[in-house]
Amino acid sequence: MKISTSILGANDRVDAVSKLNRTNTSYIHVDVMDGKFVSDTLFDKINLVNSINMVSKYPLDIHLMVENPIEYIEQYKDMNIEFITFHVEVDKDKNEIIDKIHNMGYKVGLSIKPNTDINDLDPYLDKIDMILVMSVEPGMGGQKFINGTVDRIKKVKEIVNSRDILIEVDGGINDETISLVKDVDIVVVGSYITSSDNYYDRIERLLKNNNE
Ligand code: DX5
Ligand code: ZN
Repeated sequence: MKISTSILGANDRVDAVSKLNRTNTSYIHVDVMDGKFVSDTLFDKINLVNSINMVSKYPLDIHLMVENPIEYIEQYKDMNIEFITFHVEVDKDKNEIIDKIHNMGYKVGLSIKPNTDINDLDPYLDKIDMILVMSVEPGMGGQKFINGTVDRIKKVKEIVNSRDILIEVDGGINDETISLVKDVDIVVVGSYITSSDNYYDRIERLLKNNNE
């Protein structure tokens, strides 16, 4: 299991990334919010994403909580990005968005909110690289893990079948809830790490318990 650290809750997000450079996180999770798909606005200015990209030694894991992904994706040229993930709930041509991300050289993630039908992912399964299962309602950090997520991950695994698609989970993960999601590939962890003054230790604790 790999950790993708969400810097949403950090006071100084660029400083948080330089601290994360000295840990065993695998990715920097960047929560982009447009004030429409979710009520907050965050990382909607390209300058902030650029600064994060310049400071980070780890690849970025971009989570677009926006109504119109294409207008954001176009700005992310030539960056150290591993995944760009957008939501299956957006009312746009999702095949066009998937192709756009692939053409820019990045892997594609499709995210699903806690109350959306898992089968809404079906039409895209042969084209995507990752599914991001939300374990809280998107929009803010520090929320409680929704227990029903455990069953949803099982269902996602069933529909993925033998395809080569990674599974990521996001929201409410800490040193206790992480044991519920042991079988996913990547866990996004925000406040459990960024509320601590020792990012390194928090990440070691998460990794130790779950990679045995
Ligand atoms: C929620 C975001 C998450 C959030 C996770 O909308 O997508 O990435 O930052 O934070 P924690 O781990 O605090 O739930
Ligand atoms: Zn996220």
